[in-house]
Amino acid sequence: MHLPRVLAAAAALISSTVLAQNVSTYHNPIITGFHPDPTCTFVAELNNTFFCTFSSFLTFPGLPIYASRDLINWKLISNGLNRAEQLPALGLLPRGSTSGIYAPTLRYRDGKFYILTTLANQALYGTNYTRFDNFILTTTNIYQSSHWSDPVRFDFPGIDPSPFWDDNGTTYMTGSYNGIEILQAPIDLDTGELLGPLVDIWNGTGLPSPEAPHIYKKDGWYYLLTAEGGTRERHRSNVARSKNIFGPYEGDPANPVLSTYLSPSYFQAVGHSDIFTDALGQYWAIALAVRAGYSYNFDPYNSLFPMGREAVLTPVKWATGDWPRYQNVSGIMTGDFVLPQHPDPSTVPMEGEGVLSESNDVIDFPPNSSLPSHLFHWRLPVTKNYAVSPPGHSNTLRLGSSVLNLTSFDADSTRGAGQTFLARRQAHSLFRFSVDVEYDGLLTREGEEVGVTALQDQAQHFDISVAMLIPNGTDGPVQPHIRFRGISTTSYRLPSRFKYVDEAWALPDELRGQQVRLQVEAVNTTHYAFSAGLGGAVVNNTLGVFGWARGNYLVPYYSGVVVGAYATSNGRYGESAFETYISRWRYTGIEQVIELPADQQPIYWD
Ligand SMILES: *[C@@H]1O[C@H](CO)[C@@H](O)[C@H](O)[C@H]1NC(C)=O
Ligand SMILES: *[C@@H]1O[C@H](CO)[C@@H](O)[C@H](O)[C@H]1NC(C)=O
Ligand SMILES: *[C@@H]1O[C@H](CO)[C@@H](O)[C@H](O)[C@H]1NC(C)=O
Ligand SMILES: *[C@@H]1O[C@H](CO)[C@@H](O)[C@H](O)[C@H]1NC(C)=O
Ligand SMILES: *[C@@H]1O[C@H](CO)[C@@H](O)[C@H](O)[C@H]1NC(C)=O
Ligand SMILES: *[C@@H]1O[C@H](CO)[C@@H](O)[C@H](O)[C@H]1NC(C)=O
Ligand SMILES: *[C@@H]1O[C@H](CO)[C@@H](O)[C@H](O)[C@H]1NC(C)=O
Ligand SMILES: *[C@@H]1O[C@H](CO)[C@@H](O)[C@H](O)[C@H]1NC(C)=O
Ligand SMILES: *[C@@H]1O[C@H](CO)[C@@H](O)[C@H](O)[C@H]1NC(C)=O
Ligand SMILES: *[C@@H]1O[C@H](CO)[C@@H](O)[C@H](O)[C@H]1NC(C)=O
Ligand SMILES: *[C@@H]1O[C@H](CO)[C@@H](O)[C@H](O)[C@H]1NC(C)=O
Repeated sequence: MHLPRVLAAAAALISSTVLAQNVSTYHNPIITGFHPDPTCTFVAELNNTFFCTFSSFLTFPGLPIYASRDLINWKLISNGLNRAEQLPALGLLPRGSTSGIYAPTLRYRDGKFYILTTLANQALYGTNYTRFDNFILTTTNIYQSSHWSDPVRFDFPGIDPSPFWDDNGTTYMTGSYNGIEILQAPIDLDTGELLGPLVDIWNGTGLPSPEAPHIYKKDGWYYLLTAEGGTRERHRSNVARSKNIFGPYEGDPANPVLSTYLSPSYFQAVGHSDIFTDALGQYWAIALAVRAGYSYNFDPYNSLFPMGREAVLTPVKWATGDWPRYQNVSGIMTGDFVLPQHPDPSTVPMEGEGVLSESNDVIDFPPNSSLPSHLFHWRLPVTKNYAVSPPGHSNTLRLGSSVLNLTSFDADSTRGAGQTFLARRQAHSLFRFSVDVEYDGLLTREGEEVGVTALQDQAQHFDISVAMLIPNGTDGPVQPHIRFRGISTTSYRLPSRFKYVDEAWALPDELRGQQVRLQVEAVNTTHYAFSAGLGGAVVNNTLGVFGWARGNYLVPYYSGVVVGAYATSNGRYGESAFETYISRWRYTGIEQVIELPADQQPIYWD
């Protein structure tokens, strides 16, 4: 089910002062859940289609590409990063939630798509610029993951690279350096060679971290759009312009052009935008926002925004010779704009490999199928640990266990070893996710565990599983248990606010020898419930709740909550110590909350 999002599209109004206005309405976020640092481009010659991509940090596949023709319904069509050989270093990254694929820019030029992006390794020293591996991916067939190229490196000691093609054929790369300067140089996008020195063109308006630069040329001006203020509450978009591409640039007196800082909006941290046009000549901006509410301004790591940084759309009015003027971002967007077509899921391209961005999952791992392209691993997978419908086990996914659990060694790094983990984004404020697992005769030794999780990163996840444990107060033997376990140790919080839970119950008699259904559900805007019950063919089983986790125990740095299934031997017995079969993967979106709930309780710690 794709939840209805558009209240009324293109209703005409007559007023005494304006002749006729096109008043339209749609809902934000436009692409929900973990979709930070958006970048979009409009391609008229490919049937008036909009294409976007996002930072994907540690997920693999990564750099998901979405396409739309109505700006409302978005389909995943390919993953720019889809082969381990493209980027082996992704498997080795430490600093789990702050390293990985950073702010890409997606552009189209002469039949070819370009992504410029950075693989960041934030564990290296700030002055060691090898921590930023900058590269270009290209494709002439954006609808097939396998057509995305291998990376072409370019030498840039910063992040957020963006290409710009000037009228006379010169191509430039503009990026963010050191959290202080926007640097720019001409570049050969085929070879990655910089064709001139990096020139500092803008230092921002005085706030930290001018970044995410994009250059647009209009009416003889070069417009430089940047994000500024850091990634949290002071995040915003600023504009500057110059008649010369290398500056000097003058800032828009009305900066920030987009911000929610200190506003009462449910949508906070709005910024990091990218402007594009449509076939009607209207301008639009895609930006990031978090659904967190006013309290975020004062205590950003104690707010409820487990879905992380999501993508919002806003109309931009850009008169000749004037600065771009953004409409403020909110959950219900109404204004004098025209959606490119009447919103309808059937307008998304037929081509492409994925599903609509807010689709439910009904995944039964049929024989000879591959894993759906919106499912992903955390860093690079050990491929032998995954098999769809192996012989004798139709409609299952066989998981070979990893030595590491979701916390890994240190909640930060896997040192190149894999974690057996398959996940998807939490795409709705309220949702239900479940998987059936098999343990009987498969999990035999102490610590062997198969479960489901709500995971923000390795240091913040809550899991419910079937685990083999020695009953307390006995010397054994091991028995199957329902285990509810989790940690929340984000370094942005005082250790006194760290959370640990580890509870276990002997597997209820009625589940012995059976498939066990494990479920994570966001029951309201503050709490996740973790349940277990009978799996298998029976539908609508009653599940028992074994644990709760609050949303503010899963606070994002840069990403957002993902839900998925894992298999681990918790540090023992070696790789693939056991095999288990998961089946009946279900995700059901229940509700998008787009305004701060009136009954929202103050966020508390206990
Ligand atoms: C309304 O939109 C149509 C295009 O769909 C355009 O031709 C017309 O000028 C718009 N009206 C106003 C008042 O903007
Ligand atoms: C920078 O990091 C790289 C990769 O870890 C390392 O090989 C190199 O020695 C470091 N350079 C400095 C100056 O620390
Ligand atoms: C294009 O314009 C830039 C800026 O004026 C100049 O540096 C560059 O040489 C020009 N390129 C060509 C191919 O004329
Ligand atoms: C940015 O700041 C640096 C250091 O203060 C200064 O040298 C440089 O001229 C500034 N750049 C611009 C474009 O203002
Ligand atoms: C838009 O948001 C800014 C920043 O919160 C605020 O100052 C401004 O009044 C808002 N504009 C409108 C039209 O609501
Ligand atoms: C172009 O897009 C429209 C929907 O906007 C669709 O009906 C049509 O089939 C598409 N044409 C092609 C050739 O894909
Ligand atoms: C799966 O593929 C194998 C070999 O390619 C083939 O023999 C088998 O019939 C296929 N099974 C199904 C259910 O399509
Ligand atoms: C044993 O007790 C500890 C401490 O209360 C708990 O964390 C663990 O889950 C228990 N294990 C079992 C198998 O019940
Ligand atoms: C959400 O559900 C939990 C568990 O039932 C409850 O403790 C909490 O008060 C609820 N929160 C809201 C905002 O209703
Ligand atoms: C299961 O529950 C769903 C939703 O409540 C309902 O539509 C469906 O009919 C139920 N199926 C059975 C077999 O009870
Ligand atoms: C993860 O595994 C390690 C052993 O490798 C163990 O010490 C730790 O308790 C486990 N933690 C969680 C939350 O899974």
